[in-house]
Formats: sequence, structure tokens, C-alpha cells
Amino acid sequence: MTRPAGDVLLEVTDLKVHFPIKSGIVFDRTVGHVYAVDGVDLAIRRGETYGLVGESGCGKSTLGRAILRLSEPTAGSVVFDGTDVAQLKGEELRKARRRMQMVFQDPMSSLDPRQSVESILLEGMHAHGLDKDKAATQRRLRQLLAAVGLPETSLRKYPHEFSGGQRQRIGIARALAVEPDLIVADEPVSALDVSVQAQVVNLLEDLQDQLGLTYVVIAHDLAVVRHISDRIGVMYLGALVEETDADSLYRDPLHPYTKALLSAIPVPDPQVEDTREQILLAGDLPSPANPPSGCRFHTRCPWRQASLCDTDRPQLREIGGGHRVACHYAEDIRDGRIQPHEVEPELVELTGALNPDLGPPDIGTSAEIL
Ligand SMILES: Nc1ncnc2c1ncn2[C@@H]1O[C@H](COP(=O)(O)OP(=O)(O)OP(=O)(O)O)[C@@H](O)[C@H]1O
Ligand code: SF4
Ligand SMILES: [Mg+2]
Repeated sequence: MTRPAGDVLLEVTDLKVHFPIKSGIVFDRTVGHVYAVDGVDLAIRRGETYGLVGESGCGKSTLGRAILRLSEPTAGSVVFDGTDVAQLKGEELRKARRRMQMVFQDPMSSLDPRQSVESILLEGMHAHGLDKDKAATQRRLRQLLAAVGLPETSLRKYPHEFSGGQRQRIGIARALAVEPDLIVADEPVSALDVSVQAQVVNLLEDLQDQLGLTYVVIAHDLAVVRHISDRIGVMYLGALVEETDADSLYRDPLHPYTKALLSAIPVPDPQVEDTREQILLAGDLPSPANPPSGCRFHTRCPWRQASLCDTDRPQLREIGGGHRVACHYAEDIRDGRIQPHEVEPELVELTGALNPDLGPPDIGTSAEIL
């Protein structure tokens, strides 16, 4: 794999997370697998924001959770600051986890309603022995609240006494309490009112500047990812199909799937909106329990060719300037040597297709992330 220039904090190699599908009442027989994450390679620099996008069910949350070892990897390595987290156990794993925290989509379900904000923030600090000095701990709590823009009086309150945006600030403060290096934010603003989304995104950016944090931001809203990310990875059925810096991805998408996703976003200028081409995809998203052979996108790809597409799985490969694409024909598509075929009119429904509410709930308990 080509590593991005600069100091790499996280390197994921051929990561797989397969969930067994069980059947039978008496004997728990495994009758198949959901290939939720199926061969992901990526490297993230210290201080970078890496955006992860793709349709519902493509494996974004599972990948995020596997990086933090909240989901057990089936194969592959997750090297965080020089240590393979996928191999760690017991105390070593617990220690490594302090440095990698998660911010969840729905702050209401990821914060225990019976715990005060003080107790929520203290829990992680206590688990990692960061609360030994009483006065320093109190100072730290006040500092954390100030960092996320909440008043000191919040300490004695409970999650239901806050608005959605404020609750997400508490979720962020909880992650910061243990002084992490990496934060995986899984749909951090999609449960919030549009009016407060920008505030929370700005807060994440400010905190990154102040604390030198590294982020993986998972989002179905392509506008949010574009705004916040240095680089973006596009996932389809358990694997990355394209990865490049945010501007290049929007200006010059190369993978047919990315082209289709981006072409489905309405453009504010009505003249451009009327004339621009929308790319139609055939058929539904295949099941990750039974992914298509060869290129996983071949069943829907308007550029599909007679050879290779349905037999050989394309690797994610660099085709210049750090732009990686998993398509046998990326250069031919880029240079106009092959053209898309007509497909049945069936537009990619961005709101439905990238709906974050369809998968299993991304609820993490605080116990889980300690
Ligand atoms: N614990 C689990 N057991 C079995 N299957 C699972 C489990 N967690 C996720 N899956 C399946 O793995 C696939 C990927 O799920 P995942 O939640 O990672 O997708 P996602 O890209 O985050 O989707 P969304 O945008 O809806 O949040 C889905 O088919 C999902 O049903
Ligand atoms: S490899 Fe073939 S099917 Fe896959 S994206 Fe490229 S052209 Fe389409
Ligand atoms: Mg998800």
C-alpha cells in the first residue's frame, strides 16, 4: 500500500470483520457470514481528519469499531502508533484504548440517563487512573466543560436536561476526558438539528487545532465530510473503492460508484442543476452476506466491461497524486476511452441509500469504550 506522506498514526492492513449467520435452535450452526468489512487498507496521518462515506450497511461503523477493537477483527492488522491493536489483550488493550475514543451518533442512547455529567466524565478518568488528585480532577472537569462550551453547572445535571447539541458536547467531553490521540466519530451530527450541526462540526475542528487530535469521521452526509475532512475514503460493500483528498474527490471522482453518489447531490445553482448529468445505477445494493464476484460494484456499474469486472476483484491502487481507486478501468474512464452504458432509470437515492438509521443501532455503552 502507498502510505500518505507525513507521520502515520494509524495503519490498517487487509482488515476483515465477518459476522457469522447462525441457524438452528439446538445446534448453533453457522450457515454463512456477513462480510461487513472485507479487506480494508488505509493509513492515517497524525493530526489528519479522514472522512468515511458510503451507503447504509457498507461497513463504516464496523470498520470504525474494529479500529478501536470494539468489534473483533476476523483478520488483518490495525497498527496504532507502532503497536498492532488487533493482537493486544487484557491490560495492554485497555491502555491502548485510552488513546482511541469514539463519539457516537445518538448522544441520548450513548449516555447513561442515570448518571450525572460529572459521573459520566469521571468514569473514563477513573478507569485509567487519571483521577488520583482530587483538586486536579475538579480542575480537569471544569476544563473539559469549557473546552466543549458548556457551563460548570452542567456537572450536576443529567443527560435529559440538555438539548441534542449539548448532549453531543457531553459525548465529546467524555471522549476527551482520557486525553486520546485518535477519535472515531460515527455520524457525530446526523441526529442533530441542522441548525446545530455546524456548531458541533466547528467545535470538533477547534478541538483538533488545540489538541492536535486525529479524527476518523463517519458520515452519510457528503457535505459534512467534505467540510471537515482532509482525505476521504468511499466504501462499498465492505471495502474502500476510492480514496483521495477532499477537494480532488469532489472535483474529480474517478470510481463509477463515487461518480454516481456525487451526481445525486443537488447543486444549488438551478442552471447547473438543469444541465448536469446524473448517473443512474442499476439494481439494489447487494447483500454483504452474498457479495458479487469480481468487482463488487459490477452488478450496478454503468461502465462495466465484458472482461475482468465480474471475475477479478480490483485492488485499491494509486493512479497518481495519492489518488487511490479500486477499478480495473479507472484510467480508461478518466480519459474518456470507455463510456457508460444506458441503465434502467433508477436514481441513487442519497437520503434513503445513505440513511444512517437502517443498520443496527450504533450504541456504545461507556463501559464498552473504557
Ligand atoms: N454485530 C453484528 N452482527 C451481525 N451483523 C452485523 C453486526 N453489526 C453490523 N452487521 C452487519 O454488517 C453490515 C455493515 O454494518 P455497519 O453498521 O458497519 O454499516 P454502516 O455502513 O455503518 O451503515 P449505516 O450507514 O446504516 O450506519 C450490515 O449488513 C449490518 O447488518
Ligand atoms: S472494475 Fe468494472 S464494474 Fe468495477 S467499477 Fe470498474 S468498470 Fe465498474
Ligand atoms: Mg453506521
